[in-house]
Amino acid sequence: MVDKKWREAGYVTEPVPADIDMKDEIRRMCKEKNAVIMAHYYTQGDIQDIADFVGDSLALAQQAAKTDADIIVMCGVHFMGETNKILCPNKKVLVPDLNATCSLAESCPAKEFGEFVKAHPGHTVISYVNTTAAVKALTDVVVTSGNAMKIVNALPKDEKIVFGPDRNLGNYINSITGRQMVLWDGACHVHEKFSLERILELKAAHPDAKILVHPECKGPVVKVADKVGSTAALLKFSQEDDAKEYIVATESGILHKMQQACPNKIFLPAPPDDSTCACNECNYMKLITMEKLYNCLRYEWPEIEVDEETAEKAVKCINRMLDMSK
Ligand code: 13P
Ligand code: SF4
Repeated sequence: MVDKKWREAGYVTEPVPADIDMKDEIRRMCKEKNAVIMAHYYTQGDIQDIADFVGDSLALAQQAAKTDADIIVMCGVHFMGETNKILCPNKKVLVPDLNATCSLAESCPAKEFGEFVKAHPGHTVISYVNTTAAVKALTDVVVTSGNAMKIVNALPKDEKIVFGPDRNLGNYINSITGRQMVLWDGACHVHEKFSLERILELKAAHPDAKILVHPECKGPVVKVADKVGSTAALLKFSQEDDAKEYIVATESGILHKMQQACPNKIFLPAPPDDSTCACNECNYMKLITMEKLYNCLRYEWPEIEVDEETAEKAVKCINRMLDMSK
């Protein structure tokens, strides 16, 4: 029975007994329940370290599509759990805290997006994976930052396209491909906050550092990048490249894996425009804690549910993305 208190909170609020080893218990429950823990690179380091699989949003969807686990615990944000549930309707998909949403997904309500689509008849609808299931149900093909360019380039040059919700990613794709996709006016509250001025100050102090930028950042920040890419692409670049220092303009959780993979390199988080706040942290991703993960496995709640009709429509555009990214 799910306690009323938990429903109100959006996660299991029960304290973890002091006499247990939480990590051992989490692994034991995974084995007992045939559960797999997936985590995004933006989650806290201890969550990434205990996960069976850590990846960017494309890899997490690909992994979900092929897992034989009975339970997927998605340590990330709500839309990632929804994507897993749509791909695996017969599995139990858990997200440890239902409050872990996403400002991009929230910037694009399905009703308004539906009207936007209607206002552009004859356009193919491309949605970034950072959207709700209801928005995906209105979409022809989903993309992530890891495959957006490849998917857009695979469409005929004269195809009319509506792209949502991230205007920064959309502008970046338009600038590289020469397309004129019609853009929804949404943005991520973390990536929008990076300050070009402060990045350049940091670069002046570390002239040999290369600048790594996620395409959700604003155009002027993207312009000064040595590498633009998804979290997985930035991680890969930092491992294969021969520089010793990097300024990283994406959510700071990625530094955990970068530093683990290359302990002798220096990774500097790009500064946000407000020096008084930790704005380069995604407050939603950081809601996922070891305590919530433990309780979520223990009680098999919060569970992600997507209504059948929405899921049936949404699965098509996610599968189309998976096919086109092979
Ligand atoms: P990735 O697709 O690079 O994992 O990014 C997801 C995300 O939420 C970026 O803010
Ligand atoms: Fe959403 Fe931004 Fe957080 Fe990514 S970093 S999950 S886009 S709010």
